[in-house]
Amino acid sequence: MRIMARMVARTALSLLLVAAGWGAAPAQAAAARALRQEMAPSAEYSTLVPAVLEIPSMCTTKYSCPGAGPQIYTCNGSHWENTNSNVTFKCEGGLMGVHSVIAKVPSYNFTCGFVQGHTQGQIMVPGPGAMPSDLPIYRREAFNSSGCVMGVKWITRTDTKGGQTPTPTCTMAENGTTEGIDYSATFKFWMC
Ligand SMILES: *[C@@H]1O[C@H](CO)[C@@H](O)[C@H](O)[C@H]1NC(C)=O
Ligand SMILES: *[C@@H]1O[C@H](CO)[C@@H](O)[C@H](O)[C@H]1NC(C)=O
Ligand SMILES: *[C@@H]1O[C@H](CO)[C@@H](O)[C@H](O)[C@H]1NC(C)=O
Ligand SMILES: *[C@@H]1O[C@H](CO)[C@@H](O)[C@H](O)[C@H]1NC(C)=O
Ligand SMILES: *[C@@H]1O[C@H](CO)[C@@H](O)[C@H](O)[C@H]1NC(C)=O
Repeated sequence: MRIMARMVARTALSLLLVAAGWGAAPAQAAAARALRQEMAPSAEYSTLVPAVLEIPSMCTTKYSCPGAGPQIYTCNGSHWENTNSNVTFKCEGGLMGVHSVIAKVPSYNFTCGFVQGHTQGQIMVPGPGAMPSDLPIYRREAFNSSGCVMGVKWITRTDTKGGQTPTPTCTMAENGTTEGIDYSATFKFWMC
């Protein structure tokens, strides 16, 4: 509830700022900085994301996990659709896991726990300085958590390199076949 209230307040404030217009540019910048501080739990994370992906200030990173592996696309007869991934990640501290899609739900299977992410309501945007070949970065709400990731509230993906399919279209002859495009990224699991 608190998070929702903050987000609503933030949206209202940005509308006000837009309405205030040109003359208020310095005030607008100061307000944006203040807002960023209110939302931002980590200066390091803030450098990796635009403000729209910021995390409420009461949250902390439980695990920060660089990972790599293929983004998996399946040809549906005309287009390559993203259907899975098989990313092995290794967190600071040595903990390991695999990120894949189980029954269309993004899943993060740690050796000591399990958590899934809601795609509904997720925010996905290009990372700062991203190339067209890089997958977007995201923030999604976590659910179905257990073990060492029990209670995780947000999952973020930052610093993505690669993973976009170079050719969005495929042929009828390729229908049902898959292709894997390698990428790397950092996954963070946040407790609030
Ligand atoms: C592709 O193959 C699937 C079964 O593997 C089939 O259901 C689907 O209709 C096919 N796509 C097209 C466009 O024919
Ligand atoms: C294949 O995927 C494209 C892009 O997602 C979609 O527009 C199209 O409707 C899909 N075709 C079938 C047969 O599902
Ligand atoms: C995922 O990657 C691992 C390690 O490379 C491999 O052993 C496994 O077979 C892959 N799983 C799938 C579903 O592709
Ligand atoms: C998580 O990975 C383990 C192997 O490390 C496997 O036994 C288990 O079935 C996986 N859990 C899910 C929900 O896929
Ligand atoms: C939680 O994940 C497990 C493993 O994929 C699945 O069997 C179960 O149905 C999920 N529970 C919920 C509430 O989504």
